[in-house]
Amino acid sequence: MTLPEGLSRRTLLVKLGIAFNAAIAAVLAVPIVRYLMSPVIHERKGGYDAWVSLGNLEQFPPGQTRFATYRNPVVNPWDGTTGDIACWVRNVDGKSFQVFAINCAHLGCPVRWFPQSSLFLCPCHGGAYYQDGSRASGPPERGLFEYGYKLESGRLFIKAEEMPTPGSACKSKNSDIVREIKPCA
Ligand code: FES
Repeated sequence: MTLPEGLSRRTLLVKLGIAFNAAIAAVLAVPIVRYLMSPVIHERKGGYDAWVSLGNLEQFPPGQTRFATYRNPVVNPWDGTTGDIACWVRNVDGKSFQVFAINCAHLGCPVRWFPQSSLFLCPCHGGAYYQDGSRASGPPERGLFEYGYKLESGRLFIKAEEMPTPGSACKSKNSDIVREIKPCA
């Protein structure tokens, strides 16, 4: 192969190396930029602000606490079952409800409802919560996190927003939420 005049083999290889590295950098940059921009992209979609149905009210009899799941409104089609999020629904008296995040307020293990003792118990470190989600004992420093909810056309909807953490603001700004998310302890 004859090289263009004034272009040495060494210079050509250096240029090819730079072009190759630039192409690799561009390929790697796409997922990194998407990751960094994801909060903005999701916010634009309004996913976390979406009202998500947990189903008909008949699924949640008065005085009982039932397990429910909903689809994360900001998942991608390829997320599969990891996009299903569990929660506990308490029908207090047929008119008012409480919808609890399933994750323990200590380190996030899924809590389980035991109707025999009317307690939510955490399998990880023995955290316990009363039926209204308030802390009963163990390492958690506060009660279970709650979703805002509303009743509409015989269905229960929750505000599937990002759940609060002990370090962030916890009050929901939405005015049509029947029960506001409790402020952080
Ligand atoms: Fe529940 Fe630690 S994660 S008590």
